[in-house]
Amino acid sequence: MRSQLFVPADSEKKLEKGLASGADCLFLDLEDSVALGAKPKARRLAAEFLAEAQRRSPRPLLYVRVNGLESGLIETDLEAVAEGAPDGVVLPKCVNGAALQHLGAMLAVKEAQADLADGAIKIIPIVTETAAALFNMGTYAGASQRLAGLTWGAEDLAACLGAEENRDEDGAYRGPYALARNLTLLAASAADVPAIDTVYLNFRDLAGFRLECAAARRDGFIGKMAIHPAQVEIINEVFTPSEASIARAHAVVAAFAADPEAGVVSLEGEMLDAPHLKRARRLLERFSNKSWSAS
Ligand code: COA
Ligand code: MG
Repeated sequence: MRSQLFVPADSEKKLEKGLASGADCLFLDLEDSVALGAKPKARRLAAEFLAEAQRRSPRPLLYVRVNGLESGLIETDLEAVAEGAPDGVVLPKCVNGAALQHLGAMLAVKEAQADLADGAIKIIPIVTETAAALFNMGTYAGASQRLAGLTWGAEDLAACLGAEENRDEDGAYRGPYALARNLTLLAASAADVPAIDTVYLNFRDLAGFRLECAAARRDGFIGKMAIHPAQVEIINEVFTPSEASIARAHAVVAAFAADPEAGVVSLEGEMLDAPHLKRARRLLERFSNKSWSAS
């Protein structure tokens, strides 16, 4: 899952455009991009869209971003969309691993009612939208079999902190948001699930967007969320391993295979030991099963 495109679910036009965007996954949004008065329409359109888009092949993965557990809206959201058998649910304003279990129990009821397999609907939580959530980043490991990845947000966190800005003049995230980003990477790794980078709001600045994608990939994120179709192609390009990095990974694996008893080998003047082999294998695994590809 390299690219996840947010699509406000109250817009038929955007839903249609989302399907044609080339995104690996669509996040049909019922939360912050949909005004309260438009939620009923968004739920209805999301349900219709799920039914229709499921029949396409190939198709992107289809997730629904529901409203948060504290919103008083999530029950109605799930009631509307569970029957459409989304691949997963994005949980905003998630505070800890117990919240995943809470949502998981709600999903289990819906799955039984809709004749879906138990655990079929995955969860990707947004784990940095409140200050309290940042103190619980170690609680996701082992919390739920449904966990399919972790992602983070800097906008709601800034609102929570009463901050004027979350980026410096040069575009870099200020301290609290850099912390949130880094903790997301660490929490995802501890939970053994992919880390997904947050959105980039200035959708006309594609050069700045590309740089942020590249920085995320270098740090270990496997993909990035998009808010505009123009961002999707860049994400897919940046997060697909390059031929050079695949060739290098094959060379690393080959160097160890050539000397099975060796703990350490050298390749082109560089020392390689266990972590380098692990990284190479990970990259090849991701590439070979194209874990992003649509079903
Ligand atoms: N998904 C699908 N289609 C989208 C889209 C999206 N996220 N964002 C824009 N489009 C469509 C537009 O409808 C427009 O279609 P048209 O050419 O048929 O008119 C086309 O892509 C070009 O859009 P553009 O004119 O460049 O932008 P806009 O002013 O219409 O929309 C936003 C700008 C920010 C309102 C829009 O990109 C958007 O709604 N993004 C998602 C917001 C969201 O979900 N936020 C929550 C997560 S942070
Ligand atoms: Mg939000």
